[in-house]
Amino acid sequence: MGARPLLNRRLAGMGTTIFAEMSALATATGSINLGQGFPDTDGPREIAEAAARAVLDGHGNQYPPGPGIPELRTAIAEHQQRFHGLSYDPDTEVLVTAGATEAIAAALLALLEPGDEVIALEPFYDSYAACIAMAGAVRVPLTLRAPDFRPDLDRLRALVTPRTRLLLLNTPHNPTGTVLTADELAAIAALAVEHDLLVIVDEVYEHLVFSGAHHPIAALPGMRERTVSISSAGKTFSFTGWKVGWVTASAPLVSAVRTAKQYLTYVSAGPFQYAVAEALRLPDPYFDSLRADLLRKRDLLADGLDAAGFRVFRPAGTYFITTDITPLGEKDGIEFCRTLPGRCGVVAIPNAVFYDDSEAGRPLVRFAFCKRVAVLEEAVARLGRL
Ligand SMILES: Cc1ncc(COP(=O)(O)O)c(C=O)c1O
Repeated sequence: MGARPLLNRRLAGMGTTIFAEMSALATATGSINLGQGFPDTDGPREIAEAAARAVLDGHGNQYPPGPGIPELRTAIAEHQQRFHGLSYDPDTEVLVTAGATEAIAAALLALLEPGDEVIALEPFYDSYAACIAMAGAVRVPLTLRAPDFRPDLDRLRALVTPRTRLLLLNTPHNPTGTVLTADELAAIAALAVEHDLLVIVDEVYEHLVFSGAHHPIAALPGMRERTVSISSAGKTFSFTGWKVGWVTASAPLVSAVRTAKQYLTYVSAGPFQYAVAEALRLPDPYFDSLRADLLRKRDLLADGLDAAGFRVFRPAGTYFITTDITPLGEKDGIEFCRTLPGRCGVVAIPNAVFYDDSEAGRPLVRFAFCKRVAVLEEAVARLGRL
């Protein structure tokens, strides 16, 4: 082959994700993997049975409808009404996607022109940078800094230029666990309205909030027509492998996102769509006990990390605890995470990989607590030997 690089230059430098590297390290060293955010127990048995039944009964085994099966679109609309008081038409304002990941990709590819600027909360979930790049757009980070990881709203205002097209939000926020407050969201919404910006909000952890509350920005004045809300079944129902996600937005926004989505996967997860429609209608105690269970696990791991000498930033939401390794005499999270499996048999993720500003993330390391109590206890015991 000639001298020209094979990989499109927009993706240059975005080789293997850190999750693949760290999960391989976990397997190779037999370590406890607190890197990737997936639960080590499956979601409700009756929902798994609904999926199995759908396969056996021939529901969804062939291409489902492009926008998603009507049963699921209706259940998504009902869920938005029930938990957030938001009303969406299941036929025109809801789109089922291959996880939130495809929803993010399709929304960015559909709504951006090359050269558009996207302001996103940094640290970013890793697919944001890649999808903004694939769209030929430019990411402009609004950095969340330790110890409180709040957005600097004056800084946000200063980042808006005539080229800004879109604000990309994530609340509850991975990896910091920040849950944007009603006041922060109101200020962000006012800015979006003032500058006529679109907003994409990734809400996959909407049910995993331990203090404060999740507020949907789409509910704020002037926001419904400019907001693409994204969520998924993975985290809420502990079936991350099913990859059933969705978009809710105004009909013109959904139509734009659907145009890109139909050339990505077209459709996916037929039988799982039937099961997720049932899951979204589970009664409130399901959602309450999911949250209570994760809160217990958060505290177990946070206390253990604290005792092991980490500086712990206790998250208000999500699956993740961000820590600072400086009190352990360490400086570099990437180096620390590469050696941690060998030193004590635990895998974590260096937050630096989620930052453009690598200094801001350098001493930070993320641990996932969506694991069985016995696994977390063993991890804590191992970390205590550091
Ligand atoms: C912030 C955020 N968005 C999106 C996703 C991906 O969601 P899905 O598995 O539904 O594609 C994740 C998964 O870790 C996430 O943390």
